Amino acid sequence: MRAWLTGGAAGIAIGIAVAVTAARWAGAVTQPVAFDHRKHTQDLKLDCALCHPNVAVGQHPGLPSVEICAMCHQTRLGTSSASAQVTGYVTSGRPLVFRKLFGLPPYVFFTHRRHVAIAKLPCADCHGDIALTTTPPRRPLVTITMNFCLHCHLKMHQSTDCIACHR
Ligand code: HEC
Ligand code: HEC
Ligand code: HEC
Ligand code: HEC
Ligand code: HEC
Repeated sequence: MRAWLTGGAAGIAIGIAVAVTAARWAGAVTQPVAFDHRKHTQDLKLDCALCHPNVAVGQHPGLPSVEICAMCHQTRLGTSSASAQVTGYVTSGRPLVFRKLFGLPPYVFFTHRRHVAIAKLPCADCHGDIALTTTPPRRPLVTITMNFCLHCHLKMHQSTDCIACHR
């Protein structure tokens, strides 16, 4: 990645333009289980970091594995078929793999630790009200573009240097 930086902004633009064409992904995301954020974050008041363990300490928050669900869903909770499905995954040992919804192209550097633990920004600034959803959104609730990042960086007097985000 460093090599194309020596060419300056033009080099960056060309390097990125190629990557954009290769990485542009589209289409709706479907999840294996109809997870309900609202029930877990509002009714049960669970912390985001229980299921997104690296959100304050790392680059990528991570999505929960079945072991986390197994803390509570060893036996069926409530009456919904989705809840029964979760217990099915837990007891059978079948892998339960959630799919990523928000994403950045590989040529963008972004770390949660910096924005969540240091700047103390609310999750909703970038993710909208996903914590209040009752079924998994099929598309990101907020479209994260370069202007989206720059707008806040300008407002909060943070770096707008190309190499801060493209390194
Ligand atoms: C300043 C913007 C911003 C804030 C604030 C933010 N996120 Fe993110 N989040 C992103 C971006 C951008 C991505 C996609 C990153 C990528 O693919 O590298 C992402 C990805 C994620 C993912 C996907 C899983 C993964 O490992 O990539 C989860 C889960 C997540 N964020 C949870 C949270 C939670 C919980 C909070 C609050 C504690 C939070 N985020 C705060 C911008 C933000
Ligand atoms: C700390 C305990 C706990 C953890 C961890 C947990 N759940 Fe739950 N979950 C519950 C409880 C309690 C209910 C409510 C059951 C009811 O409706 O009475 C519930 C309900 C659900 C439901 C049904 C929602 C509805 O609207 O009826 C689904 C689906 C679900 N959980 C999925 C998951 C998944 C997937 C994981 C792992 C990523 C997980 N849960 C982790 C405690 C937990
Ligand atoms: C009990 C586990 C659990 C808790 C607690 C939880 N989440 Fe999640 N989160 C999930 C699961 C499962 C998914 C994937 C399914 C979905 O999108 O509903 C997910 C997906 C996400 C995503 C999309 C990640 C991506 O792939 O891009 C964001 C953003 C997010 N959660 C934010 C939050 C925030 C903010 C909180 C706290 C207010 C929170 N979550 C609390 C389990 C949890
Ligand atoms: C809602 C405001 C907000 C948004 C949106 C935002 N940032 Fe930031 N960003 C900040 C703040 C505040 C800091 C300074 C954190 C600190 O004090 O270390 C920062 C710091 C950074 C840094 C470290 C800069 C340095 O000087 O080394 C990078 C890199 C970065 N952000 C990338 C991004 C990217 C990429 C996006 C879009 C995906 C983004 N940010 C979106 C507020 C934001
Ligand atoms: C605060 C973070 C940030 C800074 C600073 C930044 N970019 Fe970006 N840039 C992004 C993000 C995020 C994307 C990905 C946007 C997407 O996926 O739609 C991107 C995408 C791009 C693209 C791909 C084309 C496009 O618009 O989608 C080019 C070219 C680019 N940046 C060049 C630059 C140049 C040149 C600079 C310096 C003048 C710069 N960027 C500064 C975050 C940043």
